[in-house]
Amino acid sequence: MFGKRTAQQIEKASSSSAARKPAPQSPGKKVMAPPKVTAVPQNNKPPVTDTKKSAEVVRSDGYFQTKTTIFNALIDTIDLSQLAQLDPESAAEEIRDIVNEIISIKNLQMSIAEQEHLLQDICNDVLGYGPLEPLLARDDIADVMVNGAGRTFIEVNGKIEQTDVRFRDNAQLMNICQRIVSQVGRRVDEASPICDARLPDGSRVNVIAPPLAIDGPALTIRKFKKDKLTMNDLVNFQSISPEGAKVLEIIGASRINTLISGGTGSGKTTLLNCMTSFIEEDERVITCEDAAELQLQQPHVVRLETRPPNLEGQGEVTMRDLVKNCLRMRPERIIVGEVRGPEAFDLLQAMNTGHDGSMGTLHANSPREGLQRVESMITMGGYNLPSKTIREMIVGSIDIVIQAARLRDGSRRITHITEVLGTEGDTIITQDLFVFEITGEDDDGKIIGRHKSTGIARPAFWDRAKYYGKHIELAEALDAAGE
Ligand SMILES: Nc1ncnc2c1ncn2[C@@H]1O[C@H](COP(=O)(O)OP(=O)(O)OP(=O)(O)O)[C@@H](O)[C@H]1O
Ligand SMILES: [Mg+2]
Repeated sequence: MFGKRTAQQIEKASSSSAARKPAPQSPGKKVMAPPKVTAVPQNNKPPVTDTKKSAEVVRSDGYFQTKTTIFNALIDTIDLSQLAQLDPESAAEEIRDIVNEIISIKNLQMSIAEQEHLLQDICNDVLGYGPLEPLLARDDIADVMVNGAGRTFIEVNGKIEQTDVRFRDNAQLMNICQRIVSQVGRRVDEASPICDARLPDGSRVNVIAPPLAIDGPALTIRKFKKDKLTMNDLVNFQSISPEGAKVLEIIGASRINTLISGGTGSGKTTLLNCMTSFIEEDERVITCEDAAELQLQQPHVVRLETRPPNLEGQGEVTMRDLVKNCLRMRPERIIVGEVRGPEAFDLLQAMNTGHDGSMGTLHANSPREGLQRVESMITMGGYNLPSKTIREMIVGSIDIVIQAARLRDGSRRITHITEVLGTEGDTIITQDLFVFEITGEDDDGKIIGRHKSTGIARPAFWDRAKYYGKHIELAEALDAAGE
């Protein structure tokens, strides 16, 4: 087929320096750029990959040298533009045939297993995201963090560990970053070195390239979990006690305005997703996110996503634009993936103008700090309001703050369920309903603790829970948690 060349051609392409020049072409073969731009199959589906196992294979310098030799020979031999027309399986098959030919012609000594790994790596390089592929194929990884070509870290089970995945050089890493961001119509280079993107599977990607990233491109991927964690999973992982989960369910079902606060990667979005499962089927819900991560199961949901400016710096649609627009869409609840700017004002307004049960997340280390952040987001948004007015607005809108945290042992816990009660003078008064109390550490360094009710029998949202017929369950859950 198109990729096939005679043994002499392969020999020629791979053994002489003239190989980099366009070799005599068969009719129809286009002149290809060297490995710089590689083909992605049209359906964008990542190619078949080895999973966990291949990430663990130790790849020596010799291995990389052999791979480079074969890779260069392959690129000179194959017509990438035609390869891109094939489905991933056929493309991989084509590459496999040619690589096997190159190996036998160049008389390279390799075991079957080595040859298999090499084929897999080359397929990943040509068709997918190169050395990242084995990591992307693993379901147990939460984050992938690449700090330049030589160092890649992953987060597994709440712990960050270094992998032996490395890139040929920073140029290869940059090409892969480029390939990822080009799929969402963006570009990353010296002129625009910061870029957010998404993988076809929904994973969230951030790239920051040199000269801003001093030691080579830094790529961060938050893997998209197809099967999102449920409240039951959070209970099983002991992130929350069964009674705490019951209280959260009542909060969600009684349309109580909720803010989820937490540090980076503490599980805010996951918790928000769990909270949305308590929304009734007939409620009209509008979600606003920077990158769609939430997976609501209800039928009446409109999902909105912000848009970064294009290469000319135009066309940006901010979170504030979306939240403002939501209000004209007759929402019953508004869910904001992450509140980080002046949209805080619009969300609060929505919350106290009849959109009960609206929710959002924000970065903060405690419920109190979360409320302060809302205040500073509004102040910095240029609203000329006295802080007393802003605080009154916060108190009038937000009923509950739930705090998520990633503890030092890597576990994720809900550490506070806190009510916002009112203001006293200039201060916002809050009251904890549930707290996570650390009692010690076991021999493996795992934190031991328990979620306990603070003894409040009648929270401020009691009447609301009663209105929705949930007050008996609420009293039972609070009683059980206090024991
Ligand atoms: N309670 C939990 N137990 C175990 N893993 C969890 C828990 N909550 C979240 N995770 C996992 O932790 C990772 C980060 O979760 P999530 O995206 O919800 O965090 P986040 O606080 O929204 O992060 P960011 O600040 O980056 O938006 C995900 O892989 C998720 O599956
Ligand atoms: Mg998040």
